Amino acid sequence: MCGITACAAPRGTDVLETLVDGLRNLEYRGYDSSGVAVRNDDGLTVVKREGEIDVLADALADTAPAGAVGIGHTRWSTHGPPTDANAHPHTGCTDDVSVVHNGIVENYASLREDLLARGHTFTSETDTEVIPHLIEMYRGEGLSPEDAFRATIERLEGRFAVAMLVDDHETVFAARDGSPLVVGVGEDRRFLASDVPSFLEHTNRVAFLEDGDVVKLSPGDHEVTDLGGHPVDRPVQTVDWQAEDAQRDGFDHYMLKEIHEQPAALDRAIQGRITDDNDVRLEGFPAGEFADVGAVHLIACGTSYHAALYAQQLLANRDIPAQVFSAGEYTTTPAPVRDDTLVVAVTQSGETADTLSSLDIAAERGARTLAVTNVIGSTAARTADDALFIRAGPEIGVAATKTFSSQVAVLALLAERIAEDVSGTVHSDREALLAALERLPADVQDTLQRSPVESLATELRGREEQFFIGRGYGYPVALESALKFKEITYEHAEGFAAGELKHGPLALVTSDTSVFAVFTGRHDEKTLKNVEEVRARGAPVVAIAAESDHEVAEAADEFLPIPDTHPVAAGLLANVQLQLVSYRVADLLGRSIDKPRNLAKSVTVE
Ligand code: F6R
Repeated sequence: MCGITACAAPRGTDVLETLVDGLRNLEYRGYDSSGVAVRNDDGLTVVKREGEIDVLADALADTAPAGAVGIGHTRWSTHGPPTDANAHPHTGCTDDVSVVHNGIVENYASLREDLLARGHTFTSETDTEVIPHLIEMYRGEGLSPEDAFRATIERLEGRFAVAMLVDDHETVFAARDGSPLVVGVGEDRRFLASDVPSFLEHTNRVAFLEDGDVVKLSPGDHEVTDLGGHPVDRPVQTVDWQAEDAQRDGFDHYMLKEIHEQPAALDRAIQGRITDDNDVRLEGFPAGEFADVGAVHLIACGTSYHAALYAQQLLANRDIPAQVFSAGEYTTTPAPVRDDTLVVAVTQSGETADTLSSLDIAAERGARTLAVTNVIGSTAARTADDALFIRAGPEIGVAATKTFSSQVAVLALLAERIAEDVSGTVHSDREALLAALERLPADVQDTLQRSPVESLATELRGREEQFFIGRGYGYPVALESALKFKEITYEHAEGFAAGELKHGPLALVTSDTSVFAVFTGRHDEKTLKNVEEVRARGAPVVAIAAESDHEVAEAADEFLPIPDTHPVAAGLLANVQLQLVSYRVADLLGRSIDKPRNLAKSVTVE
């Protein structure tokens, strides 16, 4: 949510294109407006525009400011609408300093009042604008740019990442407190960004900053210190993501590419984690590691919440007491934890503010914490006591697809490990489950190849309502599919536990309601009854079930087959079919699939 990029290169180099490309690679974090500031011997030039990065690129084609040092920003609005004036970078009363910012300055109102009283004038409605004015004020008092930056950072309350460029230094200064920042280490230049894909085409050598860090970026070097100026060591690591992982690769949309990447992602998710004798080995978690766990709390948001719901059922089916919480609610009403409660934060990005706050609360209350995440070096991975990685590779489309499948696969393995450690025995279903997970990449491939959704999407487009129903593992899939549908088609969709329909939602069902029914091979006879109930009200039913399930195929108006498999895997295969349904309908409607309106990936505000 909001993307920051920066580059410091040797004199004579022009970083403008690098900055704009870096912003394009971060556009999933916000696309309301964007801007860049570039420095050369004539000073700073700022160009910023409301709208997507193409609008900025058009504006830059006219002005093309050159410089070897620069910062950039793509915005998801929090304070003030998406206008040119509210776009970043922001400057003070003069153009001597420019600042980009991700997060929220919670005390901006009092800072602004103070600055207004000192004669500063503001040109935007953002919280960010107080930052360049404070820097300007401190420089006016005689502080060096670095000291003015540090003094300013100390005044800010809230979660933020900030980068600053001044007119008389070939250096970028940046600081993080709650919002992500990572340094990219090139041969003769340094990069800075909110996320690694921003500069992946230049380097995969990175140093993750931590809260309280201040970094000084110059062409061949970067120096990390704490706020007091003491050096801190942030080791340079090599990430195994490739530049092409973050490119569209011939697909019309990232989302479609990522849907098709699921076989490979699932393969990586389970690789080396299932042994020939059906043991589950999770690196860093030897057998017996979870023997003391008495209860599990799962906390997450959005799609990750649906993966957490899946995990809750996986654990419950192994007799482990597990509860799922929406992270935003957990922060307001934290559930009581005991010494033996394991709190698992499920978060693709590892940067979702609500989930991070929940982790903090759980840790304060003495619970053991574990992050299940896609991003090595993310805040969740570093904050939790332990981290387990889903290895999905970078996901650029705002609507999560491959990360959901990978989360569920890894959570299934985690549930097995926990259950075995707690009970000391292996459940009789283990062999069938692990075999299904090992077959899953091929089954997803098969599902993708045979999907008949093209013609179906034409038929579905324009119906008034879409309901998604399922039970057991089909329930989180129903919720996830409805979320995906509404997110990218902008049409109304709701997911329900199939048994709940008759307790209210049935009142909305008409012949203009498409009902998608998910069958996983368990409790299907009950879901079939719910299908009859909606068909009796004239609603057309699309059933997703095993290809061998003729009874379901006959009971529905349309049938989307999936390979015969274990119910845990069947839910994921049904989800793949429904991802394609949402994608095709959104495409027919001409929606902005990778960047749905009002949304952004990695929601770093609460
Ligand atoms: C929906 C989607 C969001 C995220 C949610 C949590 O397609 O992507 O609902 O799942 O914002 O994000 P993470 O997993 O990064 O914590």
